[in-house]
Amino acid sequence: MKEFKRYLVTSALPYANGPVHIGHLAGVYIPSDIFVRYLRLRGRDVISVCGSDEHGVPITIKARREGVSPQDIVDKYHAIIKSSFERLGMSFDIYSRTTSPTHAVTASEFFRTLYDKGEFVEQTSMQYYDPEAKTFLADRYITGTCPHCQNERAYGDQCEKCGSTLNPTDLINPRSAISGSAPELRETTHWYLPLDKHEEFLRRWILEGHKEWKPNVYGQCKSWLDLGLQPRAVSRDLDWGIPVPVEGAEGKVLYVWFDAPIGYISATKDLTPDWEKYWKSEDTKMVHFIGKDNIVFHCIVFPAMLRAHGGYILPDNVPANEFLNLEGDKISTSRNWAVWLHEYLDEFPGKEDVLRYVLCANAPESKDNDFTWKDFQARNNNELVAVLGNFVNRALVLTRKYYDGAVPAAGPLAEADREMLAEVPRIKAALEENIENYRFREALKEAMNIARLGNKYLADTEPWKTVKSDPERVKTILNVALQLTASLAVAIEPFMPFTAAKLVKMLGIEKPEWDRMGCSDLMPEGHRIGSPELLFEKIEDEVIEAQLRKLAETKAANAAAEVSQHAEPQKAEVSFEEFDKMDVRVATVVAAEKVAKTKKLLRLTVDTGIDTREIVSGIAEHYTPEELVGRRVLVLVNLAPRTLRGIESRGMILMAQDASGKLSLVAPEAPVPAGSKIG
Ligand code: MF3
Ligand code: ZN
Repeated sequence: MKEFKRYLVTSALPYANGPVHIGHLAGVYIPSDIFVRYLRLRGRDVISVCGSDEHGVPITIKARREGVSPQDIVDKYHAIIKSSFERLGMSFDIYSRTTSPTHAVTASEFFRTLYDKGEFVEQTSMQYYDPEAKTFLADRYITGTCPHCQNERAYGDQCEKCGSTLNPTDLINPRSAISGSAPELRETTHWYLPLDKHEEFLRRWILEGHKEWKPNVYGQCKSWLDLGLQPRAVSRDLDWGIPVPVEGAEGKVLYVWFDAPIGYISATKDLTPDWEKYWKSEDTKMVHFIGKDNIVFHCIVFPAMLRAHGGYILPDNVPANEFLNLEGDKISTSRNWAVWLHEYLDEFPGKEDVLRYVLCANAPESKDNDFTWKDFQARNNNELVAVLGNFVNRALVLTRKYYDGAVPAAGPLAEADREMLAEVPRIKAALEENIENYRFREALKEAMNIARLGNKYLADTEPWKTVKSDPERVKTILNVALQLTASLAVAIEPFMPFTAAKLVKMLGIEKPEWDRMGCSDLMPEGHRIGSPELLFEKIEDEVIEAQLRKLAETKAANAAAEVSQHAEPQKAEVSFEEFDKMDVRVATVVAAEKVAKTKKLLRLTVDTGIDTREIVSGIAEHYTPEELVGRRVLVLVNLAPRTLRGIESRGMILMAQDASGKLSLVAPEAPVPAGSKIG
């Protein structure tokens, strides 16, 4: 195996159009932080870079919807994401952003180099243009009817109802999402990266050279390559992004997936003047941590860009995870179906490591996985409290009790002691093997095994009983147990840095070096430990129920929104003659009162222009009598009279009704006199 001198670890730049949720954490950030913390513990030269991905159409859509600028949106979410990452103990060496000045220059120069080298092809195509808003429309900005399922709210790139991938020109009756007007096709020119030109190289590099990549990553690359690569546009007609640095390219910006990965380079530049050492030396091992939806960009497009540019290294591995679901449903930012990191941190102060632990223990490493609050509670209570916390607590409390907190001397080792101590170097090797091969769940299990075996060791040797019969023996047992706690403090650090720090403090030692894990002098004889505190506390049912209630409320809100979005289908056709039979008039309400002993009915007296008559209307829950007097309304005057509660009702007040049943009066826009006809 190749020896590397240093590591460059990148984590997918999160889009700054929303906060980070547990799906992002389990897929990308927890694994990457475990990896870099481990490398640092081993004294490796490693840098970890990340930042916010602040360009792209979704950000402009969100800005437009909220009536603010795209810069406002990214400023807001960049701050939320950055601080929540810090609070979770993410140890990036730099958390940058793609609206930084360094990035504008870096991305621009990168494009220009490829342009000057003739690495792009220029192509003209027809794209939708909004004549009213005077702008080309990104695929997401065009809505229309899906040709496959007739969903009227399909987007130019995708129908979310039936899941089809679409081209804007597939849409029936396309509309601009900006102005609502019908878009027209216009000619536009863009730059394309001819991926086909790099296909041979990519095949060799990935399919032959990187058979060790995770099966999901390798498999996706293989199917892309087997389909044959096409040129991909790297510019867009948009007013948010890095301007295309070519004359005559006004109104065009770099495609977000072109500039974002270059963000890794800009972040490194902002971190260190020595950035080239990390990006341009074959001695550097570059690893991209990403989610599975990013595979093609990191394994195919970005490597093709780097190679076209020249001088840059390519990733050694791209350990992408699958997706994490939440309580059986796909996590979704737009449906608010997520556990948001910043909310978790507020609601569970001091429990950062619990989340880190659960998301690693349950990480979707080889298949999609489900996060459930019950599992969260069970792992906390049965693993962190009952295994890790319990072991440490027993070792420390007994040491306080029997030896006033001073580490007792070990006597001659019994078989059980030797066996126990021998487990730690084995675990250490397994940890290294697993972490270096991106199997973090397995690695975490191994680290926890120290505590698990420690508990078994104490249960077998029973120092609390032996102390009466053979107090010398107990000194050895607790000495062994204390050495284990010190090994634990380093073994769990990549996964649970807050707990590791707390443990080190309780033990009153310096954090042990990785390579000394398993040594039997980590806690020297006579050393005084600090005061034991509980590392974890039990999570009660109420806490979990509150989280489940919160999710149930989200579900209910989504269901209501869904109903109100979907209009009822159109009724059967009527002829003009049939329609014309209805006589609808503008009328004025002259009096209104509640119908006694009913909740819904009002007795209205209306001036129809023809006469003054009474109408009983079921609007008492939506309007008070006082609100109605003097209002102009529409009345179907030739409806056959009906008697309701002894009142003859002659006609019907027309109203709009939404999906929830809310009624709203309909009235002419201008003050038309009573008696005016509608039709
Ligand atoms: N913002 C993208 C996402 O969240 C990831 C960008 S990774 C980068 O899916 F390489 F482009 F930066
Ligand atoms: Zn569809």
